[in-house]
Amino acid sequence: MVTVTIDGKSIQVETGTTVMEAARDLGIEIPHLCYHPELSASGGCRLCIVEVEGRAGLEPSCQLACADDQVVRTQSKRLSQMRREVIDLFVSDHPLDCVICDKAGACLLQKYAYEYGVSETSYDLEVSRSLFQDDNPFFLRDHKYCILCGRCVRVCNEVIGADAIELAGRGFESHVATPFDGPMIDSSCIFCGSCVQVCPTAALMPVSRRGKGREWDLDRIKTICGYCGVGCQVEYALKDSRILYAQATPDAPVNGEFLCTKGRYGWDFATHPERLTTPMIRRDMAYELGLTDEPWHLPDASPLAVQQPKIEDSFVPVGWDTALDLVAQKLADTVKENGPDSIMGLASARCTNEENYVFQKFMRAGIGTNNLDHCARL
Ligand code: SF4
Ligand code: SF4
Ligand code: SF4
Ligand code: FES
Repeated sequence: MVTVTIDGKSIQVETGTTVMEAARDLGIEIPHLCYHPELSASGGCRLCIVEVEGRAGLEPSCQLACADDQVVRTQSKRLSQMRREVIDLFVSDHPLDCVICDKAGACLLQKYAYEYGVSETSYDLEVSRSLFQDDNPFFLRDHKYCILCGRCVRVCNEVIGADAIELAGRGFESHVATPFDGPMIDSSCIFCGSCVQVCPTAALMPVSRRGKGREWDLDRIKTICGYCGVGCQVEYALKDSRILYAQATPDAPVNGEFLCTKGRYGWDFATHPERLTTPMIRRDMAYELGLTDEPWHLPDASPLAVQQPKIEDSFVPVGWDTALDLVAQKLADTVKENGPDSIMGLASARCTNEENYVFQKFMRAGIGTNNLDHCARL
């Protein structure tokens, strides 16, 4: 363990802890663009510089290991000037489109430009990247907003293990590239969207939110992804009660900032017009039970014809009591006629542990069978 003092506050940390990490533990935010707590430190942006007592130069705090009796300052006139210079360089190669940018309000470059009062560049503005790639249904790559922080590359390589993208080229030619700059679908990308999650600017954005609303207009709701038993926490951003995009949040206990493709992009069922919102009973059975006056008819069109089935032709919506009474009656009749082992229960990974526990109890103790299985993943 070593003891370090940052902005007058002392903290004891494990050997190897960086000044950036120790500062975060103390609740001190050091400006940063390329640093991300889940990724290795690349030391590329130089915005996280700090002063260390006894050293003349400025040090990048994301790569500086804490040392015993080290005294660090994260704020000073000199640091502000240097950070302003760094931001000035970034905005000399970045369109300051904040007034029309979907990322405004959630963009780290905008945040620091605001905090350090950089409203324009003192250099000649020269935006060196112009590639715009909308080659997949999940996210857009708008290279003119890219600040080459490398977070997307590191998350793809270090966390996801997909190795789909890399920093290619040199100088003004540098850009984030798939192999041969081909479409994402031809790369090893698994469309987890983790690169979009960690991108600090508008260079990577969900397709679904483009032009649909400003960050501060969106409502946010946290919930648990229902696709599998891992139970990842997901936060939906909504406009007018419709989901615009999904993301993970750092405080998610199971998944941190990461989601799989299903959790991040598979939410359109929530407001789909054909989503089932009430139990339904087959129309022929509902007619027999007197729940509808309209019997079921064989459709006029040939069953071989390609057609969009209409659910209301074959099913009748009913209340939960009616549906559950019918299921209970059918189960009781089947057990009576054919014995409990004529029934099998298939539990779902979309249920909670507790629900699956109750289900197996119901099958074993209620129905009296061990015919029980579970779809481990969808
Ligand atoms: S990415 Fe950030 S800095 Fe760039 S235009 Fe958008 S909000 Fe402004
Ligand atoms: S979506 Fe996932 S796999 Fe694809 S490039 Fe981004 S991080 Fe890599
Ligand atoms: S696309 Fe985003 S995360 Fe990737 S290097 Fe550019 S700014 Fe950084
Ligand atoms: S955050 Fe430390 S160098 Fe970028």
